[in-house]
Amino acid sequence: MKVLSIVGARPQFVKLAPIDHAFRAAGVEHVIVHTGQHYDERMSGEFFRELDIAEPDVNLEIGSAGHGAQTGAMLARMDDVILEHRPDWVLVYGDTNSTLAGAVSAAKLQVPLAHLEAGLRSFNRAMPEEHNRVLTDHAADLLLAPTEQAMAHLATEGLAERSVLVGDVMTDVLTGIKRRIDSGELEIPDLGVTPGEYHVSTIHRAENTDDPERLRAIVEGLQGLERPVVLLAHPRLVQRCADFGIVLEQGSVRVHEPLPYGRLVAAAAGAHSVITDSGGLQKEAFLLRVPCVTVRTETEWVETVELGWNVLASDPRTIAWALASLDPQPTDATPYGDGRAAQRVVEALSR
Ligand code: UD1
Repeated sequence: MKVLSIVGARPQFVKLAPIDHAFRAAGVEHVIVHTGQHYDERMSGEFFRELDIAEPDVNLEIGSAGHGAQTGAMLARMDDVILEHRPDWVLVYGDTNSTLAGAVSAAKLQVPLAHLEAGLRSFNRAMPEEHNRVLTDHAADLLLAPTEQAMAHLATEGLAERSVLVGDVMTDVLTGIKRRIDSGELEIPDLGVTPGEYHVSTIHRAENTDDPERLRAIVEGLQGLERPVVLLAHPRLVQRCADFGIVLEQGSVRVHEPLPYGRLVAAAAGAHSVITDSGGLQKEAFLLRVPCVTVRTETEWVETVELGWNVLASDPRTIAWALASLDPQPTDATPYGDGRAAQRVVEALSR
């Protein structure tokens, strides 16, 4: 079997890692196409090395642009790549513009398309990620869902017959890293703050960064917290703050470059709590049993909220209140699977 994976953005490299490892173990021929959506070393190359992912076979080097232009540029180049490699499956990941471009290209070429992390919904149609995931699910021949909830969404949309519950592949990766933290092999990084007494924060979503008033309220909310906030700043956040004349490093905020994945997870593991708008980090916080405040009006990872480990601060002025309201209770619940999702992906593709 030959599978062509299409990735382009940071969280997709994390999802790709366990899949690449499982494909290698099963003797699956794996072609990796990197669209170049993320290109900075710390947003891309570092992840491939750290997570032991094979070098991409193809890099389209598309880079940054508006949503339509970026997606279109990928699409224009993708057909030739898929036709050259003639895979049994095209596999796309998550909900970025790279996901949608890969999905449309495979669908138009009538090459079987599988979508990993299918069925997630925020029901917020203003989010670019929501368009990408809905359109990709409806184009795909095989929907690889991470949770029961995702399976239910797919059934509601008439896609049950094409759906398989495999679990969450990011949990596969996290399980391995957590083991390394617990054994002391991976240490909590020294961020110049007292262990257990700091917040780890990431803010990068368009709905938070591109509206100056909302962005200012988020930054002020973080700056006004009692504990220090280690803000791992995505390039989009830094750029928008500069555009809008917002000074980031004031009050409690300590600006830090994005960390390599293992160190990010270890930093979160050592934190008092996490404040984020990232989907992955909400889930990682839960798996590490670190409380989380999510600066969004909704979340796709509803289980983290239902189990009491995540609170939404829809209005950024309520970040401090949301933090104070967190009172998570110990739980053995495993809504994201058993850390063996990638193996089930291999089985589903081989059927
Ligand atoms: C993308 C995904 C988002 C995902 C996020 C993870 C879409 C629609 N969004 O958002 O779902 O959560 O990746 O990080 O696909 N930039 C750099 N260096 C890079 C990449 C980007 O400086 O390597 C800057 C550029 O100024 C660029 C901006 O960041 O314009 C935004 O990058 P882009 O890929 O458009 O979207 P993300 O915000 O990263």
